[in-house]
This record gives sequence, C-alpha cells and structure tokens, in this order.
Amino acid sequence: MSATLCRTRFSRHILRVVQTRRCYSTPATVSLLGQQYPKDKVSNVTSAIADKVGRNLYMNPSHPLGILQTLISSHYHDFNSMTGLSPIVTPAKNFDDLGFPADHPGRAATDSYYINRDLMLRTHTSAHEVEVFARRERQWLLSADVYRRDEIDASHYPVFHQMEGARVFPMDASGRAELEADNARLSHHLARANIVIEDVPHITPANPAQAAHDPVLAELVARNLKLSLNSLMLTLFAGRAGADAAEPLRVRWIEAYFPFTTPSYEVEVFFRGKWLEILGCGVVQQLTLDRAQVPNSISWAFGLGLERIAMILFSIPDIRLFWSQDPRFLSQFTAGQISTFKPYSKYPACYKDVSFWLPDTGLHDNDFCDLVRDLAGDLVQDVVLIDSFTHPKTNRSSKCYRVNYCSMDRSLSNEEANTIHEQVISTLKDKFGVEIR
Ligand code: DAH
Repeated sequence: MSATLCRTRFSRHILRVVQTRRCYSTPATVSLLGQQYPKDKVSNVTSAIADKVGRNLYMNPSHPLGILQTLISSHYHDFNSMTGLSPIVTPAKNFDDLGFPADHPGRAATDSYYINRDLMLRTHTSAHEVEVFARRERQWLLSADVYRRDEIDASHYPVFHQMEGARVFPMDASGRAELEADNARLSHHLARANIVIEDVPHITPANPAQAAHDPVLAELVARNLKLSLNSLMLTLFAGRAGADAAEPLRVRWIEAYFPFTTPSYEVEVFFRGKWLEILGCGVVQQLTLDRAQVPNSISWAFGLGLERIAMILFSIPDIRLFWSQDPRFLSQFTAGQISTFKPYSKYPACYKDVSFWLPDTGLHDNDFCDLVRDLAGDLVQDVVLIDSFTHPKTNRSSKCYRVNYCSMDRSLSNEEANTIHEQVISTLKDKFGVEIR
C-alpha cells in the first residue's frame, strides 16, 4: 500500500527528515494575531490553522462570505451587527459559561484547537453570548471565524464562519406587548409570502420551557424566534436561481438540543431538491442572562454557518475556494449580489495511500487529517479512511488512508504530490511512532 513511498535518492530523504524535524520541533510558543502564546502538553494549533487566524474573509464585502454576511445584517437592519472579536477565548467562555457538561465531546482535544491549557480558538460564536448580553445589547448579530478539528472533504474545513443573532425582551407586560405586536407584524408579512412551513409545537415535554419562564411568555418568545427566522429564510432563499419561482419555499422546524437553550430547534430549507440544515436556535437559558447580569429579561438566539449557505447560494462546489486568492475566483463576485460561480477549470486529482500499524496509544482520524493539512496546506482535497482492521492474533490495528492531493488553482505534478506524501509518511513515523506497512 505504501507504493507511493519512494526513496530513490538518499540525499532527498535526509532533506525531508530535516524539514520535518523543523516543522515539528515543537517551538515553545504559538504566534497568533501578532502575539506569542506559550504552548504546553495540550497545544494542538498547527501552523496551517494559525495562518488563517486574522484573515477575516467575512469582512470583505465582495467575498461571497462577506456578501452573505451583509445580506443577513441588512435583513436584521435594526440589530447591532458586531465583528472583530478575538477568536482566542478560554474554555470557560466557549463551554462552561454556556452549560456544556464536563464530558461533552466538543471539549476533546481531538475536536477543538487548544493554544494551551488556558486558551483555545472558539468553536462557535455562542462563546460571546455572555459578553455581548452583558453590554446590554437588546438585539444583536455577531459574525466571526470559528475553529473545529474535523474530517477533510468538499464541505468541511477546520476554519469556518458563523453568525450569531439574539433578541432580548423585558420579562413583564411591556415585553409581552412588544412580542405580541412584533408577532402580528411578522405573521402578516409571512401570510402574504409564498412559503410553506412544517412546524413543531413550540414547547413539548421533550423540548421544555424553562422553570424561570412564564409559559405564556416563553411561547411568545419561541413564536417570535420562528417568525423572525422564517422571514430570514425568505430573504435568503426565495426567488434565487435554481428555485422554481412558482413553487413555495419550504422550511422545516425540528426539535433539537443545545446546552445553552431550551426549547431548542433546528431549521432546514428545501432547496434544489434537497433538505439543507441551516441553523440552530432556541430560547436562551436564563443562566446565560444571569451570568451577563441582565435582570428581568428573556431572549432568543440563533447561530448559523455562513459557508454552507454561501456554497448553496453561489453554487461554490468546494469549501477551500473561499480561501482562494486567485483572481479567477475573487473577481467573479460583486458586493451586494448573489451570483452563480462559474468553475474556471478542474485539475486532476492525485491519490496517494498510506497504510500503517497504529501505535499502542492509537491515532485519531483528526490527528491524521491535521498532520496532512499542516504539510499539504490547501493542496489536500480530501482524506478517506479506506481500510481499518485488527489482526486477530497479534491484536495490532492497522489503518489505510487515501489522500487526494489536488490544487484549486493549478495542475499539481505527481512529483510534487509524492514529495508532500513522503513528508506525511515520515512525519507520521516521527510524531506518532506508527509503523508503515
Ligand atoms: N453554537 C451552535 C453551534 O455552533 C449553534 C447555535 C445553536 C447557536 C443554538 C445558538 C443557539 O445561538 O441558540 O452548533
């Protein structure tokens, strides 16, 4: 399986080892946004990730992510739209303050990027909820880059962008009046639109209201959240290319669970023949508002991923394209316009396999993916686990991954792919102590 491992020239092999050592000779600090942070045993921010911090793609008004960000901000034109908050947060801010249990899988070093024991790259924009509520913002949006360790394929990238939105109401008769008026206004608007909504009850035993909430007020808030987001879905999807103008827009609500909201929901939209998961949302846990010291208030919130929606609206086939600096990509988009991306060329893929015996400590798929990403950068299109087995006698486990090297911008030579793949293999050996088969 390791046929692509070629060691014809000894000198090249030496060079490779030296380069690899340099790459992984764990420097004592990691540099992010011009500042050095001390590393420790849990640090796992690779240089490929560190290089992306501060790119702020969503702030470019002519980039598809910026165009979508602006479209959502203008839909919520009377909300305070915030940007530029640092992605470097404490695990407490990212998880504890939002009620994530101590054993939540999202906290694992295999799923999140840790700078060191005390700091991490935020995994979602919800990490800023307490801080923004504490500023007494009553209706706000927050756009930002977020970081998650994940598999590699055309729709996953370890850095992506989210928008969080929230609206706070007074927990008294004035809040109730505000909600009733806004719900009437939004219902009127939606009743005239070409939209079919598959709803779920606002509150059920499995998706309950909070003890701190008057059930009538909680219903009104949940209804306001749904009306508000149905209206956003119309702005985003109705009448877009590929949607049949005569067909109604179909939106589906699903009961969900998030540690920081109840009741909670997910929203899906039927677009170009498929149901697409668009966002998560719910009625904010009172604990969040208490932490932010916002008294006598009730709020809803939502969080959506920009890449997935932008890929659909602009027909962008591969998530790596968002990071492209190729003018053939960037020049296709104009501020304020949703347009259809025209692929400028396709370059051949170059598949390389690597199979190896796992070390006793095992090796997580995400560790392999990050290693490849770090050495190949955006030249890796996807990584697929094609074989995995445990030897019945020796009990040793083996895995075989297929790495697809392919550039978005140019034709990659087999030589070049080989060189990177050899670095992947030698780094695997050096860093994780695997035995190549
Ligand atoms: N933070 C969640 C995620 O990244 C999305 C989310 C769900 C945000 C519910 C919210 C919310 O504000 O209320 O998956």
